[in-house]
Amino acid sequence: MDCILKVLVLAVLSISGQGKLLTGSFWHITDLHWDPTYKLTDGNLGSVCDSSGNRPTPQAGKFGDYLCDSPWDLISSSVHAMKNILPDPDFIIWTGDDTPHVPNEELGEEAVLRIIGNLTNLIKTLFPKTKVYSALGNHDYHPKSQLPPTQSNIYEQVQKLWEDWLDPASRDTFRKGAYYTEKLLNQTGFRVLVLNTNLYYDQNKITENMKDPADQFKWADQVLTEAVKNKEKVYIVGHVPPGFFEKKRHKPWFRPEFNQQYIELIQKHHDIIIGQFFGHHHTDSFRMFYSSAGSPISAMFLSPGVTPWKTTLPGVVDGANNPGIRVFEYNTKTLLVEDIVTYYLNLTHANMARARWEKEYRLTETFKVPDASPISMHQVLEQIAHENCYLQKYYGFNSVNYDLSVCNADCRIDHVCAMREVSFEAYEHCVEKEGASSAIPALLPIMFTLAISLWASY
Ligand SMILES: *[C@@H]1O[C@H](CO)[C@@H](O)[C@H](O)[C@H]1NC(C)=O
Ligand SMILES: *[C@@H]1O[C@H](CO)[C@@H](O)[C@H](O)[C@H]1NC(C)=O
Ligand SMILES: *[C@@H]1O[C@H](CO)[C@@H](O)[C@H](O)[C@H]1NC(C)=O
Ligand SMILES: [Zn+2]
Ligand SMILES: [Zn+2]
Repeated sequence: MDCILKVLVLAVLSISGQGKLLTGSFWHITDLHWDPTYKLTDGNLGSVCDSSGNRPTPQAGKFGDYLCDSPWDLISSSVHAMKNILPDPDFIIWTGDDTPHVPNEELGEEAVLRIIGNLTNLIKTLFPKTKVYSALGNHDYHPKSQLPPTQSNIYEQVQKLWEDWLDPASRDTFRKGAYYTEKLLNQTGFRVLVLNTNLYYDQNKITENMKDPADQFKWADQVLTEAVKNKEKVYIVGHVPPGFFEKKRHKPWFRPEFNQQYIELIQKHHDIIIGQFFGHHHTDSFRMFYSSAGSPISAMFLSPGVTPWKTTLPGVVDGANNPGIRVFEYNTKTLLVEDIVTYYLNLTHANMARARWEKEYRLTETFKVPDASPISMHQVLEQIAHENCYLQKYYGFNSVNYDLSVCNADCRIDHVCAMREVSFEAYEHCVEKEGASSAIPALLPIMFTLAISLWASY
């Protein structure tokens, strides 16, 4: 079946409608990366922002440039857009990376804390009564990515900045390792774990030879074991995700042992883990977790970033994105993620005319699934893997409508295997297997021509 036929089927199905009484909603924002040096100069000939790393920026405008991190106008516009679109969310998930992509020497501890403070104030000003579950990103430290497994001045100061958002018990664990757990909205039966997965990042030299930095795995296992006993439902929140970057083959973020430990944690407690929410990629994607028998047990949602900054990661071609923000709709009794609505700013248009935040897509509408459960997300993945029209749609969303080019056979393998396999070993296996199977259809016409010409030559 192609995309068009499925649209008709869905139209019929959706008429039946369901009650939305138990539906709540929350925002997820991530990777704002404010660049305080962003400045439009006369004719934009000079350097517009330090985060461009001297790449020329002739298109730079009021709301930013694809080669730069966010100017304040973009940061402010994104949080105001949240306020306009959904002014009273049940809560907000904010998964960090607030500072610009510049050398360490250009920042320093004070500058990092000032930037985190400025963004915290902006969110507090516009959402004064809203609970915010906030995680540190690898850029929310000085030197960047070197988040320690012990107390530090930055943890201490950030804990103060976020005091209003943290329960008293959370403040203690945050000071020690920048992670915490709370009852979701202080309700019995619901829980949030905010993890500091920057401790598992392979760029973090401090945690390199450790088995369990800050005892976070042990702590998470204990919290989840207790949550099972209490029949709680859990959301997990963090910045750096396990698994692979879908825009660069063989590129993971976690060290291998940490990646494996994370997978084991999810497999052990998947019954009560209803959703995982992460950032760091700046792209829109998701990750599947399967049981050892192969059934889908958990989905991790990777939300797009606000910064449009084109990555300088070698091997990634044209890795910029439009600024994106995202609403999750969820069942307030089960925490099931019912739908995901992504909003975005067409940066080119914003600079030419005005900042217009538009709905980009709604998951259930676009991918014809009933919700965002692990089974539904597995179905989304299978559609992307096997139907070209879904692959192309997904690929456009991946960069928030920035890169609308065709996702070819290699691109398909990169994305499908990254989404399907979080385990290092299984990912490599997937790349091999998908590579072999995609080679067959490509070879068929050649073999056919060869057969014809052999036959003709008789
Ligand atoms: C950022 O915070 C500092 C104080 O820490 C303040 O002086 C400055 O005006 C703030 N900047 C913005 C854009 O809010
Ligand atoms: C959370 O609920 C408990 C009672 O269940 C109450 O004592 C406490 O003050 C509440 N905390 C917050 C931050 O609302
Ligand atoms: C963004 O805006 C530019 C300028 O108006 C336009 O050319 C482009 O097609 C728009 N992109 C999308 C995805 O709508
Ligand atoms: Zn980032
Ligand atoms: Zn990051």
